[in-house]
This record gives sequence, C-alpha cells and structure tokens, in this order.
Amino acid sequence: MAKAPVIKINNLSKKFMLGDIEVQALQSVSLEIYSGEFIVFFGVSGCGKSTLMSMIAGLQPPSTGSILIRGEDLAKLDSNELAQHRRTKIGMVFQAFNLIQTMNVVENISLPLAFARISKGRRIKRAENLLEIVGMSKYKNRAPNQLSGGQQQRIAIARSLVANPWIMLADEPTGNLDSKSADDVMRLLVSLNRKSKRTVILITHNPDYLQFADRVFWMQDGKVIKVEANAHAVTFNEKGKSSASKADSFSLDNESKDESKSEALEEPPAEKPETAPATPKETENKEEEAEVKN
Ligand SMILES: Nc1ncnc2c1ncn2[C@@H]1O[C@H](COP(=O)(O)OP(=O)(O)O)[C@@H](O)[C@H]1O
Ligand SMILES: [Mg+2]
Repeated sequence: MAKAPVIKINNLSKKFMLGDIEVQALQSVSLEIYSGEFIVFFGVSGCGKSTLMSMIAGLQPPSTGSILIRGEDLAKLDSNELAQHRRTKIGMVFQAFNLIQTMNVVENISLPLAFARISKGRRIKRAENLLEIVGMSKYKNRAPNQLSGGQQQRIAIARSLVANPWIMLADEPTGNLDSKSADDVMRLLVSLNRKSKRTVILITHNPDYLQFADRVFWMQDGKVIKVEANAHAVTFNEKGKSSASKADSFSLDNESKDESKSEALEEPPAEKPETAPATPKETENKEEEAEVKN
C-alpha cells in the first residue's frame, strides 16, 4: 500500500490585491510531503515561500486549490478547528522569535498550554522537559532579553513543540542569527527530525542547509520549479562530509544524553491517526481535568 502523505497540496494558488495591482503569490502548486521527511523550500525573497507556509498552517485560505493535512481538507474546518489545527498539529518558528518580554522562559514555553485546560504544575513540567530537549535548562528563569538571539530561538522552538505537533514549519529561523547560533538552531531542527521523527519543513535561502533535506522544493515566482531528492541527507555532525545516512547516531546536545528527555516528545502517529498526539497523554488528561476542577 502506498504511504499516505501528511501534507497534500493540490493546484494551490494565492492572489493578493495591492490596490489595483494583482500579486500572484502562488501559482498552481501541487506537492506531497510524507511523515518524517525533512523538506526545504528554497528560493529567493518574494517567491512565495512564506505564503505557502502560512497556508499550510491554515492562517489564510487558498484563492484556488486545496491543502489536505493527513487527508483532512483545511477548507472544511471552521475557525475553532483551524485554531486547534495550528495549536496541536503544527509547530511554527519564524525569523523573529516573538517571545513575550514580560514573561520568563518557562512561562513563554508553557503559554500555549494555558488555553488547553492543563494545570499550571503540569505546564511548567512540560516546559522544563522541553528546555532540556533544546539544551536551555539553565536559563529557565531568564527573561527573553537576557538571552542571545540563538538562545531565544531555541526557546521559540521549545514553545512550538509544547503541544507535541506532527509538523514543524520553520520560516527562515536562522535569518537573524550569527553563524554559530544558526548552527545550533539547525542542529536542533535536524535532531527533531531524525531523533523525534517530526516532519520538518524549513524555509530558507541559505544553500548550506540543502544538505540536510530529504527533498528540496525549488521555488520561483510562486511556483515549484524543481523537486530534488537527496538520497544522502546528512546529519548535523557530518556536515561537510560527502556520505552519511539518516540512521547514523546523532546527539542533540553534547553535554546531556539523558534518554528520559525523549519522553517529552512522543513519536507522531505513523499513518492516519484519529486525533493529534495528545499532550499530556490521554490518561494524564483525566487526572489533569480532575486537577483543574479541584
Ligand atoms: N498580505 C499580502 N498582501 C499583498 N501581497 C503579499 C502579501 N503577502 C505576500 N505578498 C506578496 O506575495 C509574494 C510572495 O511573498 P512571500 O510569500 O512573503 O515570499 P517569500 O517568503 O518567498 O519571500 C511577494 O510578491 C509578496 O510581496
Ligand atoms: Mg518569507
């Protein structure tokens, strides 16, 4: 049986009106992305990458065409269901970190869970687990402006993972970072893909990052002009080497290899789940509700 795509885009177009001028941001884009792939959308500024990402996230509707996420047509979802889609199935990271300055790191990461009837204690525990994953435990009480750009982006990535999403969308996540911090962020994204089995979609115009992708979608003028499969997508540790395989061991954080950390990111469902992976686990949720009521 053929594998079902996690994202299926059919003949997608998007037009914007700028006064009287029509801008065709996307034109007849059709593609499929499979669970566990590391995908790069590559192309110059203005070619439609961010528009495509925001449509996958359900932030704006197509002019024509459709987007199916695990077989579910986003056009059929009402606004509550779309919000749920964004909250639970998609983790988003941008060039700007968008952290709330008046909240500390733990509060920023756990904030999305405040809308999900999860007790404060459990929200904080979840944020602390994610801080370990992104190698930032030491900084949990800091304010965002007490961190470097790269550290802030790692916090933003932790926040995007708080609901255990299947799909990570990262739009130029290293665009504001120095090369060392950019490497840290890329290391983390590659690890989330290789180790935690997230489907990662990276938007970039940095050719250095093409080597991490299983497939590269080349974009130009609102179209996908070429799809390039990369049989030897490298892990971060092997950056620069010619042959490497995804199966090679890879460590997210050189200092800490505590296996318990991985529990914070359950594997996403393999094929067609009924619901998004719950966070916390459903059994815990019941406890949770009791906790909230008490
Ligand atoms: N909300 C909008 N209103 C008008 N034009 C837009 C809007 N969003 C994007 N565009 C235009 O659509 C095109 C694609 O933009 P974008 O998706 O941001 O490209 P990229 O992310 O590849 O730089 C550009 O010409 C841009 O100016
Ligand atoms: Mg963009």
